Amino acid sequence: MNRIRFYSGEEIPVEMHKVRIVQKLSLLSVKERLKAVQDAGSNTFLLKNRDVYLDMLTDSGVNAMSDRQLAAMMEADDSYAGSETFARLEAKCTELFGTKYFLPAHQGRACEHILAKVFVKPGTIVPMNYHFTTTKAHIVLCGGSVVETPIDEAYRISSAYPFKGNMDIDKLRQVVEEHGASRIAFVRMEAGTNLIGGQPFSLDNLAEVKSLCGKHGIPLILDASLLADNLYFIKVREEKYRDWSIREIARRIADLCDIIYFSGRKLGCARGGGMMTSNAEYFKQIREFIPLYEGFLTYGGMSVREMEAIAVGLEETMELEMISHGPQFIAYMAEELIKRGIPVVTPPGGLGCHLDAREFLDHLPQEEYPAGALAAAVYIASGARGMERGTMSEQREPDGSERLADMELLRLALPRRVFTLSQVKYVVDRVSWLYENRRLVGGLKFVEEPETLRFFFGRLAPLSDWQEQLADKYMADLGEY
Ligand code: F0G
Repeated sequence: MNRIRFYSGEEIPVEMHKVRIVQKLSLLSVKERLKAVQDAGSNTFLLKNRDVYLDMLTDSGVNAMSDRQLAAMMEADDSYAGSETFARLEAKCTELFGTKYFLPAHQGRACEHILAKVFVKPGTIVPMNYHFTTTKAHIVLCGGSVVETPIDEAYRISSAYPFKGNMDIDKLRQVVEEHGASRIAFVRMEAGTNLIGGQPFSLDNLAEVKSLCGKHGIPLILDASLLADNLYFIKVREEKYRDWSIREIARRIADLCDIIYFSGRKLGCARGGGMMTSNAEYFKQIREFIPLYEGFLTYGGMSVREMEAIAVGLEETMELEMISHGPQFIAYMAEELIKRGIPVVTPPGGLGCHLDAREFLDHLPQEEYPAGALAAAVYIASGARGMERGTMSEQREPDGSERLADMELLRLALPRRVFTLSQVKYVVDRVSWLYENRRLVGGLKFVEEPETLRFFFGRLAPLSDWQEQLADKYMADLGEY
């Protein structure tokens, strides 16, 4: 694959693409970065991109597109109804996943909104291998609740277990027995489980989940937003499927699920999303909502150009070289950080490299948002922006108390085919400097706290002048840049 052993013995991942369009970046001085992060309420979501050197916030909608995708965009058919573009995308989904129907929606959370409307009634339960923020919010808005039943290993930050995204079948069975199958709206499996560090499930585990769901007549819904990474990990980590092609693995996954939905901002390296199913009844129920919330059934709120790009992007996802790039760069970054003693999620997953903020900043209590503080500190130390995935990303309990997250992670996302290895090395270096100086990093408190998804727009303030102190130390050790 893309990992090359040098004559010296060192192994590095190499890019199997060349860069043909570039975007200019700027690197602010540390004093300017200090001001920018303070203007942004210490929330990396509120930073302006022009103030960011390496945008590692997310892989969503910022993956590099291929020349083939850009070419396909020029051929898009804009007709309101019956567009050729829709037909091409639907046919690609049928070819790759064997599904009969494709229902477009403008992005992943739009699918979640509609699926919650169709399946979730007040008092129903949705068991899943792990929640995602927007998924959970939509289920709760419809009066349902989420029960997470992953294997215990999912919560272990440092582990050698290859499939931390697996469902614990016994826990799932207990939930079904306790509540009765009629109260289970659906079971959701998330590929490349985002919030535990981009961790995959195994194909055998998915088959076991399907078998249990089938026995009780419960629909199995797959969130395939991070399917590309999960496909790669099944191929390289699940012995039984080593000789299967990516195409065969993808098809087997799809055959096990009743509905598949995805964010096209991740899967397919474009923007948009959609749902696939072969079940005519589900198709009809979901279809009711598409023109109401999204757009006509042949565009679903998406630009037809993006739909063309998704069709090509899905095809490219079947190439092992293409889907190796992200996980191999992430593994490289994680290994380099581990060599320097820095705590990261292991095994390295997809999506990004995840720093363990609770361990990194073990002097901070969770109530002071260590992952949020680390996000602000990494920005000051490097100009790279990551995303808090910890207590700030949780919603308060109904009584107003904090719900402390299972994990305090700082995600440094590696959008596919975007960054070079020298940029990754730069971040490793600055994070290492920060680790040496971690005792300078203090906590944060909310000064403006929205009720829903507070991590997006919330503003925070440092609990002391630690950010100034950190910038001063940086200047003394490294200079302005
Ligand atoms: N499901 C998963 C697993 C996701 O990671 C996301 C988005 C969504 C659903 C929602 O899709 O953004 O198209 O509406 N994750 C982004 C992230 C936001 O940065 O991890 P969307």
